[in-house]
Amino acid sequence: MTARKVRIAPSLLAADIGRLAEQLSMIEAGGADWLHVDVMDGVFVPNLTFGAKIIETCKRLTKLPLDVHLIVVEPEKYFDSFAAAGADTLTIHVETAPHLNRQLARIRELGCKAGAVVNPGTPVEALRDVMDNLDLLLIMSVNPGYGGQKFIPSSVGKIARARALLDEAGSRAALEVDGGVTRDTITACWRAGADTFVAGNAVFSAADPAAEIRAIRARCAEQA
Ligand code: DX5
Ligand code: ZN
Repeated sequence: MTARKVRIAPSLLAADIGRLAEQLSMIEAGGADWLHVDVMDGVFVPNLTFGAKIIETCKRLTKLPLDVHLIVVEPEKYFDSFAAAGADTLTIHVETAPHLNRQLARIRELGCKAGAVVNPGTPVEALRDVMDNLDLLLIMSVNPGYGGQKFIPSSVGKIARARALLDEAGSRAALEVDGGVTRDTITACWRAGADTFVAGNAVFSAADPAAEIRAIRARCAEQA
């Protein structure tokens, strides 16, 4: 248990895009592990956010791996252009990806890590049969669409079930949590078996984002 990694992935959605270069340097210097990029299409969720151009810009501005969360219908439409733009991981929603094995395999063929994600209303057991094809399993702890929402407490039990499924399959996939992760909610997620934590508002709304990254990370280490 003590050897489990803690990765903190600040979410671009909460950053001040007008000061993108500065914000990315700040989190990189502050010890962030990945940059989480929420791509929303205005169809699967009402909000509309980033495309290949921003991914490409982030790739130029930071060395952090780009953890791209595709909150879209027909995610396969974006695989080629996002991989070319520098995405390191592409994560697709089980709710909009009916041919998961094929889609995950395609992501890997493009040289990216392949992730799958379940919404709060979708059982994690929906991923049981693709455990072997996953580099990352993401549990949404809010309904996607917006930053700054409140963590849904039942996500903790779901993380524990996800950890059991991954262990059962002998998978070394990262287990990530996304939505409402703060100093107060992260410890329970870590204890339940998560190792990777998206944090949008918690990091970018903090007076000192670098200190906040350290503080939320410490909430995991304390419990190791
Ligand atoms: C929610 C997005 C999240 C969001 C998290 O739709 O998938 O990645 O940026 O933001 P916070 O940490 O503020 O809940
Ligand atoms: Zn996200």
